[in-house]
Amino acid sequence: MRFELEGFLDACRRAIAGNDAERAVRELVLATVAERAPVLAALGDREHGGLLTLFRSPELTVLDFAWPPWMCFKPHNHNMWSVVGLLSGREDNVFWRRTEASIEAAGARSLGAGEVGTLGVDIIHSVTNPIGKWTRALHVYGGDFFAPPKPRSEWEHETLSERPWDLDDTRRLFAEAEVRAIR
Ligand SMILES: [Fe+2]
Repeated sequence: MRFELEGFLDACRRAIAGNDAERAVRELVLATVAERAPVLAALGDREHGGLLTLFRSPELTVLDFAWPPWMCFKPHNHNMWSVVGLLSGREDNVFWRRTEASIEAAGARSLGAGEVGTLGVDIIHSVTNPIGKWTRALHVYGGDFFAPPKPRSEWEHETLSERPWDLDDTRRLFAEAEVRAIR
């Protein structure tokens, strides 16, 4: 199988134009991560951890995630649906539900290479890379990830107190995890 980034992004744009965008994107991502070597070769090695924007519009964002070893990422919501496809490594997702005062863990799903997860609009999740290797994943969002229609929240991981989503803090967490991994 050949993989070209522009072709994949075209296919994403076509998928979200249909009347069941979420399912169409899920099928596309599932087919894409079924054979991972050409995708990883086309995307190339990543020098640093974090989220790399492959495409961004008001209706669609495609991100290339590189999770440093053993990184644990705070609970947050997206306020838009998303599809996650694993290219290498592992993403352990904890799903949280709101309680009167905070949130509580409500479920979990561990995704390995070739597996795909679908996250609904209201999902709150935290993500751990539980292994000593980098994890690489494609994340497709049904909206502008960086400008959600409703303000996004995150929850401080120790106290689970809610606060506004902080992209700078997110970038800092990736950088810190990367330093720990390299040491
Ligand atoms: Fe997320």
